[in-house]
Amino acid sequence: MPATSTPRVFVTRTLPGDALVRLASEVALEVWPGPAAPPREALFEAARRADGLLCLLTDRIDAALLDAAPRLRVISSCSVGLDHVDLAAASARGIPVGHTPGVLTDTTAELTIALLLAAARRVVEADRFVREGRWGEWAPDLLLGRDLSGSTLGVIGLGAIGSKVASLARAFGMRVLGWNRSPCRVPGVEGVAFEALLARAEFVTIHVALAPETRGLIGARELACMRRGAVLVNTARGGIVDEAALAAALASGQLAAAGLDVFEHEPLPASSPLLAAPNLVLAPHIGSASIRTRTRMADLAVANLLAGLRGQRMPHCANPEVYRD
Ligand code: DGY
Repeated sequence: MPATSTPRVFVTRTLPGDALVRLASEVALEVWPGPAAPPREALFEAARRADGLLCLLTDRIDAALLDAAPRLRVISSCSVGLDHVDLAAASARGIPVGHTPGVLTDTTAELTIALLLAAARRVVEADRFVREGRWGEWAPDLLLGRDLSGSTLGVIGLGAIGSKVASLARAFGMRVLGWNRSPCRVPGVEGVAFEALLARAEFVTIHVALAPETRGLIGARELACMRRGAVLVNTARGGIVDEAALAAALASGQLAAAGLDVFEHEPLPASSPLLAAPNLVLAPHIGSASIRTRTRMADLAVANLLAGLRGQRMPHCANPEVYRD
């Protein structure tokens, strides 16, 4: 980019790998220095002078922020999910929004399987049991769990991550049922109605995006429709599951166990009923947290941003309608 028109870019957190070093050679770069997200006022202040914004899922990018950022012409989020960005508001202003699908599919699917296994085989409970010195001797009924092999997995949402989880589950010898908002076929997956999936699956895993239509998709009624003793895993977004209802279902034994990587409010508040729920494995939103994947996400986020600043199509744009005219 010519020096006379060097664009100003604000990045809301340091990213893994060398993507920001490359970015700095092309733009006037400002990176929020803290380990936590910039406070709202700091984000407004930096966005006001930025041509490009590279954000994370912890930064709320809404119409008010866009109104306060008259120069802003590109947004790139280092995430696949975009529920933190008001896409309609960005489109209305002609601002392309980039995201990072594809590169985190395998990593997130692997964490889903890790949570399925940990919840089914009581791995965290077993670790605690040993550390607390409660291990007397081997016993035939000690910490009995549930087998994945021979069981039925219900996959809610058959996009890239849901489909990958389905294929990994089949390698474990699971039968796989699937439901998607817009019907689709995935090899090895029996497509079923939402209610049938809940009624038939012994394990249920969630892979839909958070949208008005999916908020609260799994509430008290849906948990009651699941098989008694089923296991639920969510690595998608917190708002999809009613957390109070889930805690109650675990306490009553309606669900045998659950594994959660995502929550309605992150970090999980100390007052959350989930913290007291039995047989629940918790993780701090680490679905894509491998060195390789976070590096690839940063690379893709920078590639999206630079393409946008050059007036080119982004490799992954979530609102391509901005290019139509
Ligand atoms: C995403 O990218 O949306 C994940 O939730 C975090 O990597």
